[in-house]
Amino acid sequence: MNDPNGLIQWGERFHLFYQYNPHAPSHGQIHWGHASSANLVHWQHEPIALAPDAAGPDADGCWSGCTVDDAGTPTLIYSGHRQGRVELPCLASSDDDLRIWRKHAGNPLFDAPPPGLDVVALRDHAVWREDDHWCMLMGAGLRARGGAALLYHSPDLRSWIYRGPLLEAGEAQHLLGWSGDVWECPDFFALDGQHVLLLSICTDRPYHSVALIGAYQGERFRPAQAQKLDHGDSFFYAPQSFRDRRGRRIVFGWVMEGRSQAAQQAAGWAGVMSLPRELALDSSGQLMIRPLAELAVLRGEHAPWRGLSVRAGLPTVLPHLAGDGLEIALSLRVNLAGSAGVALRRSPDGAEETRIVYLAERQELLIDRSRSSLSPDGDRAPHVAPLRLGAGDLLNLRIFLDRSLLEVFANDRVVLTTRIYPTRPDSQGVALLAEQQDVWLDSLDAWQLRSIW
Ligand code: FRU
Repeated sequence: MNDPNGLIQWGERFHLFYQYNPHAPSHGQIHWGHASSANLVHWQHEPIALAPDAAGPDADGCWSGCTVDDAGTPTLIYSGHRQGRVELPCLASSDDDLRIWRKHAGNPLFDAPPPGLDVVALRDHAVWREDDHWCMLMGAGLRARGGAALLYHSPDLRSWIYRGPLLEAGEAQHLLGWSGDVWECPDFFALDGQHVLLLSICTDRPYHSVALIGAYQGERFRPAQAQKLDHGDSFFYAPQSFRDRRGRRIVFGWVMEGRSQAAQQAAGWAGVMSLPRELALDSSGQLMIRPLAELAVLRGEHAPWRGLSVRAGLPTVLPHLAGDGLEIALSLRVNLAGSAGVALRRSPDGAEETRIVYLAERQELLIDRSRSSLSPDGDRAPHVAPLRLGAGDLLNLRIFLDRSLLEVFANDRVVLTTRIYPTRPDSQGVALLAEQQDVWLDSLDAWQLRSIW
């Protein structure tokens, strides 16, 4: 699987569709897989929602898109993929259970990019209602100009008029530093008094997703700030968000593999969905990203530690705590110098371990995967996120470990997602780390994670 698609709360259930190739653990004939949930935590598989149609504009894949409520009719807009040409928008609608989808007879909804634009890519959709019409953003790449998010309007979701770019790479260059050849999977919404544009930037540096925060006026977006959605870069890609009935903005992302194609074939599957994350803006307009509160229902056996000094030097192994499915919440006081953190999936001799450490002088949070696996296969590059904390401040980590998937939330604003593939069955330990200076651990709570199935 890859991208999350079509997120929506409908009646009593949440629906999560996703890019899915049922034939192989690799990208190919992309269908829309479907899962549903009553609480965004426990999921149930649903039948495949969309399949390519040999005679249709989606002959080679039903690519990413979104779901909207068209006056009571669940309606999705996705990118029909046919080899050798740019993707084109297609529409399908369903009855109330969102299980069986009928493709619109008039697909594709239009059959060419806007005239006058030299487009190298055009796909993926964010659709919302404004006054008396619908708005749609499509991700794009413009030759020699880079990524763009193109805005269309429609009275009925079926006929669309191109209005112009909501934003182009050149206008965001000063914030992004890099802008990519193509912006995939745009998502756009109001949040706490401002507007946010989520973009997945590709073919420039590692793929990654970013949030631009700013003002939306007169069919243009003027971003004032940019923030990476996840410092694991390509390990949190193609995010899509939705607003639940309580008004929360919730985002999922695709977490790709960090192991070789051969290992993916051998495993028989590839790609996972991230945990749901809630987005909000703080009073200074900074993006806050937290794991969804409901995830607490997965907490099983609990192991608490309170107030202890972690000695600099050798790792302090936490006795009686082991597992490859854990939530760990910890608060430690940052020193002026040295580093402090936690090691997970650690073998008793430390030959395998993954370190999550705060580097005080550099003001960075690091995931060190250099010893995550004894296997020579796979990606072991470190992930680094800037995180400004003063001496005496608390570093608050929420860590979710689900076998190979590691999601680290720091101080409600920095997230690092990655994949690790330990080989040893005893790589299940947890240890506290301090270097150069002893460090004070205020609290640590660990829970065995229950299954979402
Ligand atoms: C992002 C993406 C989208 C596209 C889909 C195809 O990962 O490349 O741009 O619609 O995946 O599976």
